[in-house]
Formats: sequence, C-alpha cells, structure tokens
Amino acid sequence: MGINIALDGPSGAGKSTIAKLAAKRLGFVYVDTGAMYRSIAYNAMSRGIDTADEQAVTGSLQGLKIELAYREGTQAVLVNGEDVSDKIRTPEVSMGASAVAKLSAVREFLLETQRNIAAGNDIIMDGRDIGTVVLPNAQVKLFLTASAEERANRRFKELQEKGDPSTYEEVLADIEQRDYNDTHRDIAPLKQAEDAAVIDSTSMTIDQVVDEIVRAAEAAKKPSDEKKKKRSEREMMPVRPVTKTHRLNPVRQFFYNLLRVIVTFIMKHKYDLTYEGLENVPTDGGNVFASNHRSYADPVLIALGARVPISYMAKDELFHKNIFFTWLIKTFGAFPVVRGAGDTSVIDTSIDKLESGRNLVIFPEGTRSKDGKVARGKTGVALIAAVAQTKVVPVGINFEGEKLTKGSKVVVRYGKPIDPAEIGVTSATTGDVKRIKKEIMDSITGLVY
Ligand code: DC
Repeated sequence: MGINIALDGPSGAGKSTIAKLAAKRLGFVYVDTGAMYRSIAYNAMSRGIDTADEQAVTGSLQGLKIELAYREGTQAVLVNGEDVSDKIRTPEVSMGASAVAKLSAVREFLLETQRNIAAGNDIIMDGRDIGTVVLPNAQVKLFLTASAEERANRRFKELQEKGDPSTYEEVLADIEQRDYNDTHRDIAPLKQAEDAAVIDSTSMTIDQVVDEIVRAAEAAKKPSDEKKKKRSEREMMPVRPVTKTHRLNPVRQFFYNLLRVIVTFIMKHKYDLTYEGLENVPTDGGNVFASNHRSYADPVLIALGARVPISYMAKDELFHKNIFFTWLIKTFGAFPVVRGAGDTSVIDTSIDKLESGRNLVIFPEGTRSKDGKVARGKTGVALIAAVAQTKVVPVGINFEGEKLTKGSKVVVRYGKPIDPAEIGVTSATTGDVKRIKKEIMDSITGLVY
C-alpha cells in the first residue's frame, strides 16, 4: 500500500516548493493539483471563454485531456498534449483558476484523475481540498499556512525574478482575493481537515518545513508500537465460527416485522425508495452487511431490506446524549464502540451480536461519504468476517447529491454474499484478512454508481 500525503493550504504558502523537495527526499511522486485547475482555466481562456461563465467552462471540459508527465524528476503539465507548464503560471491564469475551481463540473472532472494517481502510490499531493475531499484517508495530512503579507512577499519576489511587472500591492490584493474565493466557495472550500497537522511557515525556513514533512511521512511508513501490537494480536486471533442456532424470540420477530412494514411505508412516502438484489439477502441472521456510508438513515435503509433485526456499531458519545435517544438507538440495535479501546473487544462484541441471531451492519469506510464515491475501507469488517467465518452481504446505497432530502431517489442494492470459506479465507492472518477485505470493498464499489 502506498503512503499518501495530503498537503493543503492557501495560495502562496509555499506548498509546491516544499512538496517538490519533500517528494525528492522521500522518493515520492509529487502531484500538483493546482496545476490541473490552472490548465482548465488556461484552456478556456485561450479559447476566448470567460472563466466565470459556468456553462461555457463546463462545455470546454468535453474531450479535454490533462496529463501530468514526469521528466527528469520534474513535473510537466500537458493540455491535449501541449506542454503548458510555464504558461499556466501567469497572474491572469491564477485568477482564472480560482474562478473555475468554484464550479462543480470542474471539480468532479478532476476528482477521479486525482484519486487514480494516488491509489496505491507513494505520493505527496498539494491543493486545497486534498485532506478533506480528495484523499480523506491519507495517512499524513498537513495544512501549510503563512500570513498573507509573507505569502505576498514570497510570490512578489518570484514574479520579479521572472520579469513580471506586478507590484507588491497588486500581488497582495491578488492573494487576498484568492484566499477569499477559495474559502468562501460552496463546494470543497479551502478548509483544514480535522485530523491535519498545521504548519505555520511564516517564520520557518524551507528546510525546516521539509524536515517536518519527511518526519511525518517516515512515521507513517514505520508502524507505531501500538499498531505493531494490534497487528500481532490480530495474527494470533483464532477463528471463532458463529453458531447459527440462536433464533430470535418469535414475539419480538413478529413486532419487528410489523415495525419494518410501518417504517418502510413512511420511508417510501418520504423518498423515492427502491430495493434491488433482495434475493441476495439471507433469510437467517448472523450475517454481516457491509455497506458504503452516505447518511444517518443508512442503518434503517439496510435493515428494511433484511428480514432479521440488525445490530450496528455507533460512537460511544451517542450513548450519553439523553435517555430517550439512547433507548431509541439501542432498540434499533446500536451498540457502543469506544474509540481506541482496541480491536479485540469490538470484535468480541460483534461476534456476540452475530451469535444472538442478529445481522451486523458495518460501514467499512468509517465515515460518511459526501460525494457518493467509495473511500478506502478499514480492516474491521474483514477481520470480523474472517474470525466469525460468516457471510458478508455487500450493500450499495445510492442517491444523488450530498444529503438525503424529501423526494430523493434512493436505491439500496444488496450484492451476492461473500462466503469466507468459498474464497479460501480460513484464518484471521493478515493475508486472509486482506483478501476478504478486497473482495468486500470491490463488491461494494460495484454496487455504487
Ligand atoms: O495552488 P495553485 O495556486 O496553483 O492553485 C490554483 C487555483 O486552483 C487556486 O485558486 C485554488 C484552486 N485549487 C483548488 O481549488 N483545489 C485544489 N485542490 C487546488 C487548487
């Protein structure tokens, strides 16, 4: 697996200089996403298109090919085969890039490319939304900043060296305007990821910043003692196949079915809800349902298509809100996971739930995805399936946009169950867990459009 470093921050914070140097020292590939936005602006401007004209800019993406080529260790940017590396660095193109970066069609156009470059590679990617949107699971997230005056100073010097006639005041005004645009746009605004480390470079040298990044990357490469301990615990975890003898009390099952009918009726009234692949849902309990995660309604959406009551993990904090809320989520099968309490206790609790005859719903991505793309999965679900030797039903939850709203078209798809034994997963060793994890994540991705 590659190490991904997400480096975000405002214009002129020195991200590209720093990222290039850090990439060289680490032997990583440097990916300059700003250059991609600049290329789109450059292409539009050279075709006489106003970068504020959403329709025209969107149209200009048709057939547009943006490539990053690496020549003798430096990155060249190609637009439809033309090397535009220097042409995209003018102040006009900077402003144009800031304008096109506001458009959702442009961001979507680049997202896929950026994720593909990062997948499986050691990269350092700089931009504005890398840690928050493009690579939310990056192992290292950094937010590099400096005061606006210091940033203007640096860029002014750079431009002067190139013979650009802009004054310091113009450069500062430009930076302030771009900061405003980048932080105030509706989609993917410049924002520090919650789990990013902030580096304020105002009074740091370039080398000091690079050192800090190299240290962070090396720490990510080297598993911490904590991780090593968890891994060895995992290696030693014996399989504990779920016995499927326990059936739910018939009275409870009856009331559950009734509740399911009522809630399905309410949900179908609220959303344009359809289910696909219901024939893949096992009739018994004790199965794992692994789904992509889009909204707080996901556990309910999944439960409605499954015949047997579910259990699902929820953050411990949710159990300390108020008595009613705690009762409600517990009734619907939630059980608390204390963060950082270690894998083994969660796995034991999960298997107890499976043995009690319930189905267990897990969201391998860990957090909800806003844009619907399936992020990298965590290992928990694969580990549970391997230890419990139980089937995993992949689920894809699909709806357009960021949030579920009244009338949203929602499609819940159940895929073919993955049986650990059938794919030769008979232990909870790292190799077996990896294999079933890949199978699970690939199946989920195939059910999401
Ligand atoms: O980093 P830069 O100055 O080359 O970026 C050019 C513009 O592109 C800048 O105004 C912000 C925008 N951008 C973005 O919105 N998201 C990114 N990931 C990278 C750049």
